[in-house]
Amino acid sequence: MSADYTVQGSVAVITLNNPPVNGLGLETRTAAVNAVQQAERDAAIKAIVITGAGKAFSGGADIREFNSPKALTEPTLHTLIRVVEDCSKPVVAAIHSVAMGGGLELALGCHFRVALPGAQIALPEVKLGLLPGAGGTQRMPRLVGLEMALNMVVSGAPVLSEKLAGTKLFDQVFPAGTDLLAAAVEFAGKVADLRPLPKVRDREVDYPNHEGFIAASRESVKALAGPFPAPLECVETVAASITMPFEDGLKFERERFLHLMATPESKAQRHAFMAERAASKVPDMPSDTPVRSIAGAAVVGAGTMGGGIAMNFANAGIPVTLLETRQEALDKGLATIRKNYENTVRKGKLTQEKAEQRIALVKGTLDYADIAQADIVIEAVFEDMGVKEAVFKQLDAVMKPGAILASNTSTLDLDRIAAFTNRPQDVIGLHFFSPANVMKLLEIVRGKQTGKDVLATALALSKKIKKLGVVSGVCDGFIGNRMLEQYLRQAYFLLDEGALPEQVDAAIEKFGFAMGPFRMSDLAGNDVGWYIRKRRAVESPHIAYSKSADLLCEGGRFGQKTGAGWYDYKAGDRKAYPSALVNDMIVRHSHDLGLKRRAIPDSEIVERLVYALVNEGAKILEEGIAMRASDIDMVYLSGYGFPLHRGGPMFYAESVGLPKLLEAVRKYAGGRHGEAWKPAALLERRAAEGKGFNG
Ligand code: NAI
Repeated sequence: MSADYTVQGSVAVITLNNPPVNGLGLETRTAAVNAVQQAERDAAIKAIVITGAGKAFSGGADIREFNSPKALTEPTLHTLIRVVEDCSKPVVAAIHSVAMGGGLELALGCHFRVALPGAQIALPEVKLGLLPGAGGTQRMPRLVGLEMALNMVVSGAPVLSEKLAGTKLFDQVFPAGTDLLAAAVEFAGKVADLRPLPKVRDREVDYPNHEGFIAASRESVKALAGPFPAPLECVETVAASITMPFEDGLKFERERFLHLMATPESKAQRHAFMAERAASKVPDMPSDTPVRSIAGAAVVGAGTMGGGIAMNFANAGIPVTLLETRQEALDKGLATIRKNYENTVRKGKLTQEKAEQRIALVKGTLDYADIAQADIVIEAVFEDMGVKEAVFKQLDAVMKPGAILASNTSTLDLDRIAAFTNRPQDVIGLHFFSPANVMKLLEIVRGKQTGKDVLATALALSKKIKKLGVVSGVCDGFIGNRMLEQYLRQAYFLLDEGALPEQVDAAIEKFGFAMGPFRMSDLAGNDVGWYIRKRRAVESPHIAYSKSADLLCEGGRFGQKTGAGWYDYKAGDRKAYPSALVNDMIVRHSHDLGLKRRAIPDSEIVERLVYALVNEGAKILEEGIAMRASDIDMVYLSGYGFPLHRGGPMFYAESVGLPKLLEAVRKYAGGRHGEAWKPAALLERRAAEGKGFNG
């Protein structure tokens, strides 16, 4: 059953029952409509209570119906709300925990609403590039006022029920601890004979000088919405609640909703929403795979990454011990952690007390015996196989049986690292991104022998520390950095051929990237890539690449940390200033190569950078390094500043059309780019079949 029907005296109780959050899928809607009609037919029933089983009143639309015709199959949510609102007997919504989106819209169709405090009330559709499409934009302003409704619809942010207690949204918010159902049934009994029944649609929105308010909202939302059309559409539809009669407003809402559904921005946002949920599912790992308990953690290496990684555990309330080789390095690492927390307190994002609690969870040591009992240890020492070997042999010798041994390596072969131990099944890669306490992405690197329970534990841990875990197989650079290498290769080739860093950055930032490749490299440190290129030059000497970045590093321009990189920097200022010196160096290098510099259009810059990502992404997918195309999209959306409104590189490629993309890849192939543009076999195959990357 997806809605239960029970009777208490003369009150019918309809309990939405569709775990986990009573999403209003077709079966639930059908059951709810049938239940209301049954109550209406039964002369012994005087009033109806609608509530939700488990941990929500209702979370709204059932995401399993996304992009499926079921969402539009009768009874639609509109129909259900109509049936409730037109019911001849009073209908009371009894709200607890969560009433969001369509769930809240259903409550707005009821004649009365009662709630427990602490319930999250929201119309979050804007986050999927949509607007509340079942009357929310028209009914909400009639209850909470134009301003509050507009804020809720445009931001999508939840508001606690007790904060709305003074509005007409709730007829009563009961004290905490009240038996909601009993109180709602009692309330329903009291209003059973009240006529006419109050309907939200019969109310007026009262707002003096609404024209001025709406015009000002339009301007401020326009300024903040960036490339997304939904926030402004939200303003227009909420405005219609005051400028149009109710039925016209509803029609307008429907029309704008359908318009937004078809926009590429909303499609990209819905793709990302689904992709995030898909990422934690591993086809060959049953959902009931046991997970190991993580009550204590350790981190080896208290440098840039180690400190940030340790903070993740402290933030989640898990004690963590940092291990270093020298007291000085340990002290520095612990001091950086303290400084980071103090900065957060200064910004008002954390109380001093909470910061102290978290700092107290981080201990330091120089002795492996102090970390032996940890449930997980994450190695974050220098990126050097010899150093990793020494550390993993040591960990194998001291760690308790069943401890997870993780490496934060960004490029090294995890299977070789695992082979340094006698327990390769316990070894996994946990590739955090810098700054590790901030960046959401966590690449979970599954070695050949990594145990399924270890993988399941890593995925569960990623949720606990509020990261987005994406599983990657073993290869040089894993998903994200392996693709990035192709992107950067093109960026450097473009310099040789006629572009300058500021032009490349501006073009790709206009496409929507948070930061262009050169500003990003200056932030991350150019020496990191230099070091990796030197290693690869030995391992794979046949790979063609531009030497411009090496020339930069030979001049000591490592980026922001040395006050100079692709750009010039002023002390205490992160702003990038184009560098005459670097630009001269680039032009001279073209000359030395015998290349005639040409004006490169921005469209070519964007194509070469983005298609290079896609082509490598397709190879990664084909090799099984990524489990699905949407995982690649999540890596780029959450770790590399790829624009959300384009849905990630693989989704974007599908929106361009694979045949067109392949044609461009072929056009760029050859010449000095070597094998860089060799089309991925999967790209060729899918383009020929007229399919996307998802089959
Ligand atoms: P780092 O140089 O800032 O820190 C390394 C720390 O490890 C130093 O404090 C050093 O004293 C310590 N250390 C060295 N050998 C040790 C040993 N045998 N036992 C204990 N401690 C030892 O390096 P960073 O940037 O934190 O990188 C660490 C690892 O994280 C590398 O594998 C790197 O590839 C990876 N990584 C780095 C990222 C970055 O943006 N910096 C991003 C993602 C991964």
